[in-house]
Amino acid sequence: MSPREDFVAIFDSGVGGLTVFKEVMQKLPHENLLYFGDMARVPYGGRTPKTILRYAMECISFLMKRRLKCLIVACHTVSAHALEELKEKFDLPIIGVVEPMVQELETKKEIDRLLILGTRATIASNIYPRLILEKNPELKIFSLATPLFVPLVEEGMADHPATELIIKEYLRPLEKEKMGHVLLGCTHYPLMKEALAKVLGKEVKFLDAAPLVATKTYQLLASLNLLSKKKQPSYSFLVTDHREKFCSLASRFLGKSIALEDVEEVSLDS
Ligand code: DGL
Repeated sequence: MSPREDFVAIFDSGVGGLTVFKEVMQKLPHENLLYFGDMARVPYGGRTPKTILRYAMECISFLMKRRLKCLIVACHTVSAHALEELKEKFDLPIIGVVEPMVQELETKKEIDRLLILGTRATIASNIYPRLILEKNPELKIFSLATPLFVPLVEEGMADHPATELIIKEYLRPLEKEKMGHVLLGCTHYPLMKEALAKVLGKEVKFLDAAPLVATKTYQLLASLNLLSKKKQPSYSFLVTDHREKFCSLASRFLGKSIALEDVEEVSLDS
């Protein structure tokens, strides 16, 4: 493997991966970051595995034309269905979101009841229960596909009263179950924490892959001796559509305003 220089790339189907971008920005403050959101085709979560793989291959083939140190697949749906194929195809260190979360859970022996939320494709893959139960067969796991959370977040409606009703409806089959921990199995879902806590109770604890992935990226770059010392790193954003919408959502996700000039609309055929 011959890692290229310059950017740490972060790929997601839309804006959700910005929750990972934010953590990476904090943990690796000297790195140039390049975000790619496939805004033209989000959401991926209702697509079949072969389409998810094709979309991810197309986006990453495009990204490979830039100078990359490593790639973070900041999408549980893609990590669940395509990570191994992506690692085989591209000559670059690739970090997904599933493995760091599974490793973290190995250390959290206090968890006895875990609710996993994700897109339809992530839940259908069964990747989390399979990998978690291998290490901790005693854990009681509940999995729920909650596909409407993605458009609600993309529309900036996480705190809308309709969202609370939708959460209650999704959780109806589990209403008698007490959940201690919720695994946010989609990078959009950290934006749903407050709304979820309203329904599940304040005591509920959330497991978010973003800080774990940032730490893993730091460790990877340190081990390859590729950490940057740049004083003023650059942050750029590529989208396949909806440049303005992305720009305003990104400013909200990152808690800092993003200039429209920093968001470039790209065509995957170019
Ligand atoms: N953010 C993506 C994930 O983590 C999914 C959103 C989508 O359905 O495209 O799974």
